Amino acid sequence: MLAKSDVEPLFRPTAQARGLPALAYTSEEFAREECTSLFARTWMCAGYGHELPAPGDVLPRTVAGVPLLFVRTRSGELRCFHNVCSHRGAKLVSEQASSVQMMRCRYHGWTFDLEGNLRVTPHWGGHNQPSGDLDKACAGLAPVAMAAWHDWLFVNIDGNAGPFEAYAAPFQAHFAAYGLDEAVWTRTLPYEISANWKLVAENYLETLHLNFIHTLLAEVAPFEQHAVIAEGNCLGTIIDVGLPENWVRNDALPRWRGVDADNRTAKNMALFPNFKLVIGPDHCASMVEFPDGAATSHQRWDFYFAGQGATDECFRSAREAIIDFYDKTNVEDFGAVEAVHAGHHSPAMKGARFNGIWEGAVHHFQKLVAERMAA
Ligand code: FES
Ligand SMILES: [Fe+2]
Repeated sequence: MLAKSDVEPLFRPTAQARGLPALAYTSEEFAREECTSLFARTWMCAGYGHELPAPGDVLPRTVAGVPLLFVRTRSGELRCFHNVCSHRGAKLVSEQASSVQMMRCRYHGWTFDLEGNLRVTPHWGGHNQPSGDLDKACAGLAPVAMAAWHDWLFVNIDGNAGPFEAYAAPFQAHFAAYGLDEAVWTRTLPYEISANWKLVAENYLETLHLNFIHTLLAEVAPFEQHAVIAEGNCLGTIIDVGLPENWVRNDALPRWRGVDADNRTAKNMALFPNFKLVIGPDHCASMVEFPDGAATSHQRWDFYFAGQGATDECFRSAREAIIDFYDKTNVEDFGAVEAVHAGHHSPAMKGARFNGIWEGAVHHFQKLVAERMAA
């Protein structure tokens, strides 16, 4: 945890502020504390509806150190439970599976249905009474607060973050004009970055590095034309003339419903703490960090296109061009972000300095962390 005095300089005006202490990026103890004091208290993106397309699909996933279980019930509903058997605490489901009817614990055979109800407790009543004195209704799987927004599944592990709709409203408002219900998942790209998850997030929130790291992107999306957004849990940058001409050609992909033919806006938005969504007129890509200790970030990008844009062969090359461009751009960042992580091991690193014009969202992000991590 951080002392209030550690973060006092962070709460000065952006241009005079100093960032989080370096240990917030390098300490394994701090990373463990983030799991309970930060991630568990927010709405974190932790899964994707397309990973569980059919009733009977189950998906275990460890989030912020907590084993969770996503389930598509027989009625088609998505649910999330703690992935722990209510008998003596064995992790219940170890692998993704389909056509599951019941989930049986490997240890003593307790068996749960897809709604999390405890159904079978072998030998519990001795030799002759199948369930003995156990009240099965009180021993089901523990539910986890979950909200689905389009393909993205968010969880609030401690259950106290309030309604997802209120948490995410300022972020969602930026996408209200896009017909995102048409979004069809196309591709997942996994990345591993040797840097703290916060440095990966902060890198996304500023465009000042474009001219140095992303020379191609800087040509089509000049850094100084991005507007910086920092409002509550919603952060990001927006540019209105930012997409390459060749993405707006005759064989271009179908646009989101509600987007004009001359729209070239690109929005790079983030929902604190770990969800990002980049959207253009005809595609979007979600980017999610799954922290793994202080020094490793697993990052996952998922690409979506509008309706037939996601599936038709005639749009294949246009899709590939977009995915390839994003992939190359992302990889360009890794060396810089890893260098920042390495630099935070120096005793000379006493907190970042922020540019008041370009780095307001980075500053805001650090304050959101500090508000949860300072005692
Ligand atoms: S721990 Fe699961 S049945 Fe005993
Ligand atoms: Fe970048």
